Amino acid sequence: ARRVVVLISGSGSNLQALIDAQQTEEGLGGEICAVISDQPDAYGLERAKQAGISTLCISPKNFSSREDYDQQLIREIDQFQPDLILLAGFMRILSSAFVLRYFGRLLNIHPSLLPKYKGLHTHRRALEAGDNEHGVSIHFVTEELDGGPLIVQAKVPIDLEDDESSLARKVQVQEHLLYPLVTRWFLQGRLQLKGNQPEFDGHPLPQQGLL
Ligand code: GAR
Repeated sequence: ARRVVVLISGSGSNLQALIDAQQTEEGLGGEICAVISDQPDAYGLERAKQAGISTLCISPKNFSSREDYDQQLIREIDQFQPDLILLAGFMRILSSAFVLRYFGRLLNIHPSLLPKYKGLHTHRRALEAGDNEHGVSIHFVTEELDGGPLIVQAKVPIDLEDDESSLARKVQVQEHLLYPLVTRWFLQGRLQLKGNQPEFDGHPLPQQGLL
């Protein structure tokens, strides 16, 4: 079976959606063989344990540089020989060495309609800008932070009564639908990165990804 390592920092609700998908009849197209967190108290670690998945915490406190940390992360990930590495709310910037090592098999989910709102506080920024829509993007990870080729995006409307948390909830509903779907596509071999161009069933994806 194809193997997936999931990196998290927090609640792990996306991880849970992936675990749930794995447990359906359709499956995920592979198995989550490990969940790694940079935060010892990440609730996602509990979710993984409950599902019988190996867990590991690598705390940045024990490393003097990003490069050292990422080398350790690489060593741990490589023990599982994964076909795919998923960032699911992993809140660290990754070094070039890390990104290049897993190029083409490293995906991220980001809570905005990229290229809008790279980085943090995306819901707040969308509200402050007065946008009438917001959403989520899944993309291949490249050295450009939140800038890699888009695979899919989902939009949600911003209503007058929305605040940061109501908007986050709406976006997360879409996240939980999309991440398992894209993971399945990848593990089934339908989704590939050719050079810098993502392809689905052999067809180049549009620049904004599937919408
Ligand atoms: C998700 O909304 C994800 O899009 C976001 O963190 C949340 C994690 O939630 N990721 C980023 O902001 C990456 N820069 P979860 O732990 O419940 O899956």
